[in-house]
Amino acid sequence: MKLLFVNCCISQRGEGSRTLALAKAFLEAWKAKHPEAEVETVEPETLLALKPFAPDMLNDRDALAGIRCFDAPVYDLARQFRAADRIVVAAPFWDLTFPAALRTYIEYISANGLTYHYAADGCHGDCQAEKLAYLTSGGDAEQPESLGVLYWKQLSAMFGIPGFDYVFAGGLDLDPAKTAELLDAACERARRLAEDF
Ligand SMILES: Cc1cc2nc3c(=O)[nH]c(=O)nc-3n(C[C@H](O)[C@H](O)[C@H](O)COP(=O)(O)O)c2cc1C
Repeated sequence: MKLLFVNCCISQRGEGSRTLALAKAFLEAWKAKHPEAEVETVEPETLLALKPFAPDMLNDRDALAGIRCFDAPVYDLARQFRAADRIVVAAPFWDLTFPAALRTYIEYISANGLTYHYAADGCHGDCQAEKLAYLTSGGDAEQPESLGVLYWKQLSAMFGIPGFDYVFAGGLDLDPAKTAELLDAACERARRLAEDF
């Protein structure tokens, strides 16, 4: 079993990132249940180094797809995503979704012919994972249909990943006196989610 951890905990708090605390709570609980499993991490530095696709880059990628050359480096992240059995994405709630580096990562993993394909009846996912968990922390309280959560829910469906769940540690910037309590409660929800993931 291989778990892919997409670590987009880009934070001015460094190791004190609340989103990272959430991710650590989840991963520690999950690893305790799956001591044999391999955890592969996409580091924040990797995400931040990704260049958004420009037309010439898309042309080059399409040409590779045309000859089914999916072992090319531009497909490295997509191949890694496709092969994982479980996927955990952690990112802070920024500007109603998540940091731009994660949006760029989505451009790299959304590879037609590799992670999904089209057929006459619509789009079909080609990823192996059974479950994807999205972990996020936000300054404001969680709103219904939070865009980052919805985005990853729909991406999971597009990639053919049947199980989607999430933890939103909300309201962390509203009243400093309550931040620790709210984050602890969210970490507990993350541990519970990891139990059956
Ligand atoms: C650039 C930036 C954008 C943010 N945008 C939002 C936002 O749209 N809504 C919100 O509720 N909080 C927003 N926040 C607050 C963070 O979501 C919140 O402080 C979160 O807990 C940060 O997680 P971290 O400790 O892992 O950095 C923003 C913070 C930053 C730095």
